[in-house]
Amino acid sequence: MNSNDDFKTQMKKRVEEIEGILMEYLPRQRGYQSVIMEAMSYSLLAGGKRLRPMLMKEMFRLYGGTSKALNPFMAAIEMIHTYSLVHDDLPAMDNDEYRRGRKTTHVVYGEDMGILAGDALLNYAFETAFKAFVTDPEDSLLIGRALTVLGEKAGIYGMIGGQVIDVKETGNSISKNILDTIYKLKTSALIEAAMMTGAILGGASEEEVKKVEKIAEYVGKAFQIQDDILDVTSTEEVLGKPIHSDEKNEKTTYVTLLGIAEAEKEVERLSSDAITLLHQLSGENEYLEHLLMWLVHRDR
Ligand code: IPE
Ligand code: IPE
Ligand code: MG
Ligand code: MG
Ligand code: MG
Repeated sequence: MNSNDDFKTQMKKRVEEIEGILMEYLPRQRGYQSVIMEAMSYSLLAGGKRLRPMLMKEMFRLYGGTSKALNPFMAAIEMIHTYSLVHDDLPAMDNDEYRRGRKTTHVVYGEDMGILAGDALLNYAFETAFKAFVTDPEDSLLIGRALTVLGEKAGIYGMIGGQVIDVKETGNSISKNILDTIYKLKTSALIEAAMMTGAILGGASEEEVKKVEKIAEYVGKAFQIQDDILDVTSTEEVLGKPIHSDEKNEKTTYVTLLGIAEAEKEVERLSSDAITLLHQLSGENEYLEHLLMWLVHRDR
């Protein structure tokens, strides 16, 4: 078996493990409001790449973490990410009807339930993360630090802030500076949250967590630029979401600003900078390095 097959096998195993955790933490369908639990699992259990919980666990591994608090945080970050997608696809935002290989949540359950399913996933993410205090009371301090990061990176100084500027600037031609701010917030912030909370729960020092934040910023930016590229070069079948969504919505992207070739170079540059910084951390993780390289040439 060559090393790429080996990596793919390892990745598949990790995705399965993450999906097991998601299943475990999803709310049971009960009560007269059970349609909301159904809509939550519809969006959450559709096949995503599971990148954020994967990055969280790999950072945790790099620091040799053992805390039982990790699993609820892995579920929580994927719930927050999924809610951001459900809302991003709404008619008032990107108005997309296909996601993760199936009809978007608002198309299947109606716009009202789409909004509520997003709200529910966001709230349930924190309900889930708070469970870590009960399952692992001796790690309360670490859990408190991780929750602070998770909340801030998901919020108005993080992902929501980025979506606000993205929406506000739709249809406008904007500078590279503003575009970088949008990417740093709308995409890097949740990847920073994932990698930083993994490091925190793994026992990393404040100083190390700062370095992890920088690595994640680069990974997130490279990730978003690649997403922009795939929006013009891929197919709906492979991506599991519509192509040309950015053009339809008159979004400025790295592709519209720099062209595909330059955008590709930027993805490579950022990813290689991230890997250089990764080598400066106090632990090692070969799979994580491979994963960051895989992201550069990913096709979905
Ligand atoms: C899509 O994220 C939104 C962006 C930040 C570009 P992913 O590409 O990680 O989506 P899933 O989780 O695999 O569906
Ligand atoms: C969205 O960026 C990032 C989020 C925070 C949801 P995009 O609008 O480019 O993401 P896709 O292409 O719809 O997945
Ligand atoms: Mg969007
Ligand atoms: Mg979108
Ligand atoms: Mg996109």
